[in-house]
Amino acid sequence: MSSALRPTLLFLLLGLSWAGLGSSSCRVQIPPHDQVARVARFIAHQCDWASMATISSHKPVVGQPFSNVFSVSDGPHGTSSGVPYMYLTHMEVSVQDLQVNPQASLSMSLAQTDYCKQQGFDPQSPLCAHIILSGSVLQVNGTEADFAKKALFSRHPEMIDWPTDHNWFFAKFNITQVWVLDYFGGVKVVSPDEYFQAAPHRKHH
Ligand SMILES: *[C@@H]1O[C@H](CO)[C@@H](O)[C@H](O)[C@H]1NC(C)=O
Ligand SMILES: *[C@@H]1O[C@H](CO)[C@@H](O)[C@H](O)[C@H]1NC(C)=O
Repeated sequence: MSSALRPTLLFLLLGLSWAGLGSSSCRVQIPPHDQVARVARFIAHQCDWASMATISSHKPVVGQPFSNVFSVSDGPHGTSSGVPYMYLTHMEVSVQDLQVNPQASLSMSLAQTDYCKQQGFDPQSPLCAHIILSGSVLQVNGTEADFAKKALFSRHPEMIDWPTDHNWFFAKFNITQVWVLDYFGGVKVVSPDEYFQAAPHRKHH
């Protein structure tokens, strides 16, 4: 090979690897960090599960925070409502806390997707975008329960087979405040109105 050809070959190889990175980052395309409400909606739609902290009603930690894992969905893939829905049973330890005090906090992070590892962001880095929701958990009925079922069962297919004698019901996390960590400079707050008005995905023209 002539030495004149080598830079061309190098360029082609780099070009190929750039194309590779481009296609993998396409899978999770986060909105710009200054569009905080959109980032929050994006995270809420990407994550299939959340950590939920309740105020414990169980000895020996009565009155203390209690964080547990829940499957969530704010809608089938591509249909984001922004409302985290859950499939719950009163047999569950945290749900028993909610019967005493429905107030809770939900956190979701892009560390739960491939995004942070691919970008080399530690889960505690604000660049590994994450949200904390404040609010309470409410049972939903009627048409909202129909949507919750579609949202959850499409993304958590094994729920269909969960034991029927557990009396499962659909619930939503009723958001009163959204806290966003998606960049340096401290936590940012988003009101429920701003959050629900934001478009989580790139607008198609
Ligand atoms: C849904 O139904 C349950 C049980 O009948 C009731 O306790 C609850 O308040 C209802 N929730 C809403 C949002 O209407
Ligand atoms: C649900 O959240 C809204 C704010 O989005 C709040 O005004 C309302 O009081 C909450 N409802 C309950 C039952 O907590």
